[in-house]
Amino acid sequence: MSYNLLKGKRGIIFGALDENSIAWKTAERVHEEGGTFVLTNAPIAMRMGSINKLAEKTGSKIIPADATSVEDLEKLVAGAVEELGGKLDFVLHSIGMSINVRKGRHYTDQNYDWTQKGTDVSAMSFHKTMQVLYKHDAMNEWGSIVALTYMAAQRVFPDYNDMADNKAYLESIARSFGYFFGRDKKVRVNTISQSPTPTTAGQGVKGFDGFIAYAEKMSPLGNATAQECADYTITLFSDLTKKVTLQNLFHDGGFSNMGVSNEVMEAFVNEQK
Ligand code: NAI
Repeated sequence: MSYNLLKGKRGIIFGALDENSIAWKTAERVHEEGGTFVLTNAPIAMRMGSINKLAEKTGSKIIPADATSVEDLEKLVAGAVEELGGKLDFVLHSIGMSINVRKGRHYTDQNYDWTQKGTDVSAMSFHKTMQVLYKHDAMNEWGSIVALTYMAAQRVFPDYNDMADNKAYLESIARSFGYFFGRDKKVRVNTISQSPTPTTAGQGVKGFDGFIAYAEKMSPLGNATAQECADYTITLFSDLTKKVTLQNLFHDGGFSNMGVSNEVMEAFVNEQK
């Protein structure tokens, strides 16, 4: 259903790789709600993915940018403001990558060059993006910036590896930069802490199938899907949440406040028999 919540709003959406991507679903929902945007992704991802299809469907321009490159981000922001015909109202940072995870290096045996690259892509890129937006005064007042995160920033999920540290850093950047963005530009900055979701990035985590099944059984409402995450993000981009800022917002069917559920207990008790 569409409510025209984003009519007249302009933005940038990072991270749509394929139809499973959270950013892909969000772009479709923003389009339905009347928002216009530029799509962006790393040049290499554009070759692997199918972003052109999404651009066609939503009538959007694509401007490639490696989110670790300030130069690329400057071109992206300037290009988006020009293409969309004015300053921006929303930005979605939906980017994550760990080479240690990808290459199966254990948390206790990291290759630090890879760790640094992962931190740059997954967390520092959020600071870089906001710094470029801030310095170029590219956001409208009451604009909204959202990044996606995972609860491994607060609790231990052993196979999430160095991404846990990257997410803790990302969430801290949201608060720290969010203060200045709020004070100086009246722009809000939040992170959404999403349930495990079957996407390219999600499925790259070792033991993902067990991980997602466990979270499903622990959450009173079940796991939140990518589509539901897109819906939630729309509310944060809309004018209905103008005073929500500096928050890490759990979108996880209740998982983060659970100790144990009956279903998980039963599985455990059955195993003991
Ligand atoms: P995805 O694999 O579809 O999206 C990740 C995106 O990051 C891709 O489009 C990729 O091209 C982009 N990216 C990687 N390096 C980049 C670079 N240097 N510059 C620009 N873009 C780059 O997977 P998903 O799940 O949609 O991920 C989106 C966000 O959601 C990530 O931050 C992820 O950590 C987060 N998240 C995912 C969960 C899951 O279980 N899938 C759970 C909680 C959070």
